[in-house]
Amino acid sequence: MTESTKRALVTGGTGGIGLATAHALASHGYAVTIVGRDQRRGDAARDQLAAAAAARSAATGTAAATARFIRADLSSLHAVNALADDIRASGPLDLLVNNVGGGHRQHTHTADGIEATFAINHLSGYLLTELLVDDMISAGHGRIVTLTSGAIRLADRTPLDRVEMAGRYYGFSAYGRAKLANLAYTMGLADRLRGTGVAVLAADPGASATDMGRSMRADLFPMPARLAFPLIYLNLFRSSPADAARSSIAAATGDFPTGTVLGPKGTPVTPDARATDPTVIQAVTALSQATCASALTTSRPD
Ligand SMILES: NC(=O)c1ccc[n+]([C@@H]2O[C@H](COP(=O)([O-])OP(=O)(O)OC[C@H]3O[C@@H](n4cnc5c(N)ncnc54)[C@H](OP(=O)(O)O)[C@@H]3O)[C@@H](O)[C@H]2O)c1
Repeated sequence: MTESTKRALVTGGTGGIGLATAHALASHGYAVTIVGRDQRRGDAARDQLAAAAAARSAATGTAAATARFIRADLSSLHAVNALADDIRASGPLDLLVNNVGGGHRQHTHTADGIEATFAINHLSGYLLTELLVDDMISAGHGRIVTLTSGAIRLADRTPLDRVEMAGRYYGFSAYGRAKLANLAYTMGLADRLRGTGVAVLAADPGASATDMGRSMRADLFPMPARLAFPLIYLNLFRSSPADAARSSIAAATGDFPTGTVLGPKGTPVTPDARATDPTVIQAVTALSQATCASALTTSRPD
């Protein structure tokens, strides 16, 4: 297989860290598909990727890889399912980047009735991965990169055998908890797929001045973290999306063993201990399977 025929999917690839990652992948010769909710933003991002592919083509004398935008709201399990069907129709992916993520200031539910922060930061990536991974395993190769966050340190402590948090909703605590669920699933998946040829890595971009980074407000944090918010904001949310994409790009293109977590510098870091705790991994896996049960079955071929 030539480098230019490799296919990558980047969720939330129309802006921020996802677009910077997708751009780097297009420059590496990948045919990149990006996903987001906004058609105009998606079209503009796709044109940027096509230009990067054309520049590479001119420099290397190889054919330009394609760039594609798919509009979808990935907080909906049905939309994730439809996306997986669309992607699988063209064969196995070489690279899946589970980049989409974000926060909700208020306690919100998706159209499926699922707490929205948990849905977009964990369940969308979980479901998409489960629906695409069998084809990667059959092909005997592939790579899955999942975005994680230092917000795990401030995760709400409600056990991960349920979606809803026990106490009052704070956006950042809910976000950290969903990211913890997602990293625990990712670490469990890395173990599950050992020997299949499919590598599983996580990438922590660090705090970055993206749309999400800029939307941080003190009321997302419970006390006492709320008191430290001005300091956190001024000192942390400075890196550009391109700099913050270093960890994703390293995870996608670097030579690291499966199960590695790349930190903001693009080098391996030790994950939060809860993400490698077998009890947490088991709880998250069971919860995710149960919550996505109908969406997991409807996409399978006969
Ligand atoms: N920024 C940080 O400081 C930071 C720190 C640690 C980890 N991270 C993680 O890095 C990843 C990227 O974050 P970012 O800061 O680059 O975010 P961002 O700038 O807000 O970009 C989010 C991307 O996802 C898309 N998106 C958002 N909600 C979506 C939905 N429901 N369905 C489909 N697409 C959706 C957005 O496009 P549309 O709005 O058009 O849909 C956009 O392309 C996330 O997983 C985040 O948790 C970020």
